[in-house]
Amino acid sequence: MTTAAKNYDVADLALAGGGQTRIEWADRHMPVLASIRERFAREKPLEGIQLGLCLHVTTETANLVRALTAGGADVALCASNPLSTQDDVAAALVDRHEIEVYAIKGEGDEAYYAHINAVCDKHPKITMDDGADVIGVLHSERTDQLPEVIGGTEETTTGVIRLRALEREGKLGFPIIAVNESATKHFFDNRYGTGQSTLDGIIRATNILIAGKRVVVVGYGWCGRGVALRAKGLGAHVIVCEVDPLKALEAVMDGYEVMPSIDAAREGDIFITVTGDMHAIGGQHFGVMKSGAIIANSGHFNVEVDIPALLEMAVARREARPFVEEYELGDGRRIFLLAEGRLINLSAAEGHPAAVMDMSFANQALAAEHLAKNASGLEREVHVLPPEIDQEIAKLKLETMGVAIDELTAEQEKYLSSWDQGT
Ligand SMILES: NC(=O)c1ccc[n+]([C@@H]2O[C@H](COP(=O)([O-])OP(=O)(O)OC[C@H]3O[C@@H](n4cnc5c(N)ncnc54)[C@H](O)[C@@H]3O)[C@@H](O)[C@H]2O)c1
Repeated sequence: MTTAAKNYDVADLALAGGGQTRIEWADRHMPVLASIRERFAREKPLEGIQLGLCLHVTTETANLVRALTAGGADVALCASNPLSTQDDVAAALVDRHEIEVYAIKGEGDEAYYAHINAVCDKHPKITMDDGADVIGVLHSERTDQLPEVIGGTEETTTGVIRLRALEREGKLGFPIIAVNESATKHFFDNRYGTGQSTLDGIIRATNILIAGKRVVVVGYGWCGRGVALRAKGLGAHVIVCEVDPLKALEAVMDGYEVMPSIDAAREGDIFITVTGDMHAIGGQHFGVMKSGAIIANSGHFNVEVDIPALLEMAVARREARPFVEEYELGDGRRIFLLAEGRLINLSAAEGHPAAVMDMSFANQALAAEHLAKNASGLEREVHVLPPEIDQEIAKLKLETMGVAIDELTAEQEKYLSSWDQGT
């Protein structure tokens, strides 16, 4: 056992024992990350490097932190969402792993940003974001620190969108690895992880039967595809709303009903936003929804649902159950908003299962190693990890799942790289 970290702000260190047991449970489902941790322990690719992490504080993140510290890094961690922290995990990281953690589930905006600043106070050389909040603070309030940072990584679609905007304006202070863009991240995490855990969050919060319900999925990107698939699997009639004709066409061919969101608003029993956009559901939708409609968001920020408009239309509100807020409208209809519009899977459930975060966080660990080795040669742009790393992670994952695949023969390789063989 180690001694606790000196600086931290977590809910209750007494929760550490339970948190540690859960971290070990997640570790059992993260064999790829474990193999990276073992290699990092031997090779120490991050020796003496200060890392500033702003990630959901979950059991899976704890195992990423273990891999990074095994590699020699000094890590400080804050939450990337005020509602997603698992307080027992935060306590275990402080108490059992000597990590500086600044995160408390349900913290207000002020504490949230104070915690981000506490991580910045450590003067990170590498940042690791989920939603670009540390990078946002460094690029607005703490620009004097920008030259100290050799590079950063970004976990999610919304963060990548923000960073590409900084890059376009020529304001990006250091190179970024967009981990989200790795195939072994978004194919699996966004689709299967968000798909399963979003339904899990809705069910834990409400205990409703999904079968027979009309579930409206707003946004048919990587996350939306997974959410729609899992809702359909549970017996829902799924309606998809999109703005991109290609995605809409794909949804039609995948067997879903597709219609404008204002029409879907009249029909839906449950609404799930996964657009990365603002006000995907707003006042005009609330105006026509059935009484009893349930709204959940699984996109990164709580702006996907226009909550101020809902507040304005409401004459009364109360907590119906934990994570379920009932809004009574002037005409007597009731609308139920889950988890204050924040990511439902991380607020009311535990986020993605460890088996999928295994690949996402393998990418994060290897991205940190890539930056430690190559940052000086990288432009101040948004980069993706080399495809060989994706291939390697997929190969390792298959091996740990006991799945073997074929290899191309020399003859096949030649055929596939030629233009003059065929009919
Ligand atoms: N809950 C989680 O754990 C989790 C995990 C991964 C990603 N995310 C977040 O989920 C969001 C979506 O991520 P993604 O990877 O699916 O992105 P994506 O870009 O693949 O998909 C978003 C889709 O939403 C559509 N869209 C945008 N505005 C819309 C609108 N007003 N109405 C209808 N459709 C609209 C886009 O056309 C696009 O097809 C992002 O905010 C991302 O950061 C959350």
